[in-house]
Amino acid sequence: MSEGDAYGLDARAVGRSFDRASAQYDDAAVLQKQVREELLDRLQLVAFEPRVVVDLGCGTAHATRALRDRYRAARVVAIDLAPRMLAAAKERMGWFRRFDRVQADATRLPLRAGCVDLLYSSLMLQWAPDLDAAFAEVRRVLAPRGYFTFTTFGPDTLGELRAAWAEVDDYVHVNRFVDMHEVGDALVRAGLADPVMDVERITVTYADVRGLMRDLKSIGAHNVAAGRPPGLTGPGRLRKLEAAYERFRRDGRLPATYEVVYGQAWAPGHEPPKRARRGEATIDVGSIGRRQR
Ligand SMILES: C[S@@+](CC[C@H](N)C(=O)[O-])C[C@H]1O[C@@H](n2cnc3c(N)ncnc32)[C@H](O)[C@@H]1O
Repeated sequence: MSEGDAYGLDARAVGRSFDRASAQYDDAAVLQKQVREELLDRLQLVAFEPRVVVDLGCGTAHATRALRDRYRAARVVAIDLAPRMLAAAKERMGWFRRFDRVQADATRLPLRAGCVDLLYSSLMLQWAPDLDAAFAEVRRVLAPRGYFTFTTFGPDTLGELRAAWAEVDDYVHVNRFVDMHEVGDALVRAGLADPVMDVERITVTYADVRGLMRDLKSIGAHNVAAGRPPGLTGPGRLRKLEAAYERFRRDGRLPATYEVVYGQAWAPGHEPPKRARRGEATIDVGSIGRRQR
């Protein structure tokens, strides 16, 4: 994180937060489940047989397990910053000889260059303190023709919560999320090829603000930004927040909007899909195919 950046994230604090959340993560991570399943579905359109698959920011390893079941010949590596997430991952995976667990920061991967055929990462990148450093690592570890598929959050995420807090104080309460175009630029800067991205908005609704705050806490999404308020949120400020959030209430429920960015890119040297019209890409039919479930 750059010095003096109120939105800067401390990777150690992020790791501690997810460590504490590991036991209850699955119960609260409803949106994360939906996004992860969509990303896994999209991956089915890419027909290839990876030998080494990495689930980066694996959390409790639901996707790791799905990837293991799908690519049975592959060596599957689950990587996460939080040791207790990796412990939960181990439980989920059960006994499986080609499953590796690695505790590491996405910006410093203990993997040799060019060894990963498929790098999958769902809703981890928004926690990486330095997106350029994370993408440089992705680029470094991807094998020739390697494929990177990921999701992250865009700037409209939790916009209601951000706006409501802005009426209460000037501290940072909601992380800064990077715009899809900036993510694309960062992929290109890292030397990754043919980035493709799109965005989906998902709204989760709550009876009250406390429900939303509880969910964020349960999944480990604590406020660890450098510009967070000192100390705990007192009842007075919480009441002000609740009052400010009320203006978003629709049909008796409070919305929390998430802007989910889906992205993919290839290791350089991959044969680029031919461009058709502006904004459209044609892909060699030989390179795609549906797998049987
Ligand atoms: C929101 S959870 C997503 C977990 C899982 N991918 C899923 O879809 O449910 C984010 C995960 O990323 C991990 N994480 C956060 N920052 C990381 C970093 N810099 N390097 C590696 N893992 C990180 C957290 O510990 C947490 O398990």
